[in-house]
Amino acid sequence: MDAFISLQKSIERLARIKCSNYKQDYIKRRILSRMRLTNTEDFEAYHKYLLGNPQELDLLRKALTINVTKFFRDPEVFEVIRREILPDLARRKRSIRIWCAGCATGEEPYSIAIIARELMVLHKDVSIAVYATDIDAVVLQKAMAGIYDRKALENMDEKRLRKHFISHDDGTFEVRPHIKELVKFRQHDLMSGIPVARYLDAITCRNVTIYFTEKQKNDLTHLFYSALAVDGYYVMGKTEYLAREVEHLFTPYNATQKILRKAT
Ligand SMILES: C[S@@+](CC[C@H](N)C(=O)[O-])C[C@H]1O[C@@H](n2cnc3c(N)ncnc32)[C@H](O)[C@@H]1O
Repeated sequence: MDAFISLQKSIERLARIKCSNYKQDYIKRRILSRMRLTNTEDFEAYHKYLLGNPQELDLLRKALTINVTKFFRDPEVFEVIRREILPDLARRKRSIRIWCAGCATGEEPYSIAIIARELMVLHKDVSIAVYATDIDAVVLQKAMAGIYDRKALENMDEKRLRKHFISHDDGTFEVRPHIKELVKFRQHDLMSGIPVARYLDAITCRNVTIYFTEKQKNDLTHLFYSALAVDGYYVMGKTEYLAREVEHLFTPYNATQKILRKAT
């Protein structure tokens, strides 16, 4: 069997990441970068190294599912969510449900929970739940712990930091329970074709699909369409776009911030 195919089979079995779901070029590039760092000269040698060094599995998994994120990444998007989207939903609903898909280490769902909590002070009869999912169990552990260093918090203003975080002696900050309790983390593969819930009011899926093929992106757009309630919002990443074949499923709400609404 081809050395690359056999390596991918082991990755699928050991890391539970379906390589065929990603563009082959992307998988190859990420593996090549691990090969450079482990001084292995070909796929066969790297395969052997992977099987003989359990810690490499974690490093490879990280390389394949790059988890870069921070609180209020692209602050303008969160301003639109805070000033327009949440107030609109609070006017129409008593219970608001948001899915943060591809949440990595949790900064994005916690950012939404923070602005949601601020809104709940004004609308005491409204409850908000944020479902936060990722394929990577390791990042979800960190997300659930909710402990961050200063760098992840550089977009957070001091008032919010004091109100919603516990400052620890080692310089880290922990999300307070009144924010944690709004977010439910769960492991979930966006390529599974199954939504985390239905009749959702908003979905954020940002900077996740960059390495998906066009077909996988389109399938995901259909999945989000079916998971959203009438008039539900879909927030994409700043550099992401809908392919022509699925454009009809959503109408632009704020084109600059890449926010769409379910078409009726
Ligand atoms: C760059 S992070 C994005 C984090 C956050 N949404 C943001 O924009 O700051 C991308 C995340 O997508 C996750 N991811 C990649 N493929 C996925 C899949 N098939 N299903 C669910 N999550 C996936 C990765 O594990 C990673 O944590």
